[in-house]
Amino acid sequence: MTLATGTSKAAKPLVWDPDSIPPFPAIALKALHLMSGTDTSLLELCNLIRSDPAFSTAILRIANSPLVAFSKNVTSVLQASMLLGFQRLRSVVITVGLKAYLTSSFTPLLRLSWRHSVACAILAERSADWSFLDKHFAYTAGILHDIGRMALATVMPEAYARVIERGADRPQDLIESEREFCGIDHCQAGRSLVTAWNLPEAFLAITACHHDPEAPLPGAASLIPSSCELADSLGFAVIQCRSPRSYAAILAGFPEPARKHFPADAQQLASEIASEINVIESA
Ligand SMILES: [Fe+2]
Ligand SMILES: [Fe+2]
Repeated sequence: MTLATGTSKAAKPLVWDPDSIPPFPAIALKALHLMSGTDTSLLELCNLIRSDPAFSTAILRIANSPLVAFSKNVTSVLQASMLLGFQRLRSVVITVGLKAYLTSSFTPLLRLSWRHSVACAILAERSADWSFLDKHFAYTAGILHDIGRMALATVMPEAYARVIERGADRPQDLIESEREFCGIDHCQAGRSLVTAWNLPEAFLAITACHHDPEAPLPGAASLIPSSCELADSLGFAVIQCRSPRSYAAILAGFPEPARKHFPADAQQLASEIASEINVIESA
């Protein structure tokens, strides 16, 4: 399925073909499709993890990390699953799955992109919790919102290097550069991947519209545009815009209940987020 043909300055035309991109890890896909938090779902997910040594190791490391306050010598995937609970386990599986997916070509750009997505996910999760929205969905939406960029950077590394080289005054400039150099922007690419991988429909709008102020996202997904911009401003940007908005201006985009919980000091928030990412990254 060819979705767009590039007309960039590259020597040969660029073609975006989501079917040429390897499928997302099966365990992470299964976790995305397991929507309920019943005991059966937890056991099913636990059994899938146990069948994969890399996932098992990562889950055990996270269950024994400072991220999990109650952790104490967790020695089995079953024990870790029970302690984390279905929703948290699912979030961890999707995060680890995305990292595993990228690891074969974990270029500096992809690493930045992955860290940006985790930062966005953590900020969205926190603000959803403070705003009485679905924090687990917010986290997953944050993890997946920029999969289109990771895909573009993977299949068109030279074209994407030009996007980076040009830089951006505002986030919208980045979208325009992607269209020019890659023939498609990361929102369009993300949307087509959600379709190609048969991900739940809710992720279509998240990947496609998170930079579009004319298409507000519903519920917990509405936190993604602000969380993405806040992640950038805290130092978790793939490309730092030349004219970023202030911390206060970005916080104003969050719902009122969440706004008052963010620390006044952006640096404090940045170091909290960095600590969490580092634990997940080392798992
Ligand atoms: Fe984005
Ligand atoms: Fe983003």
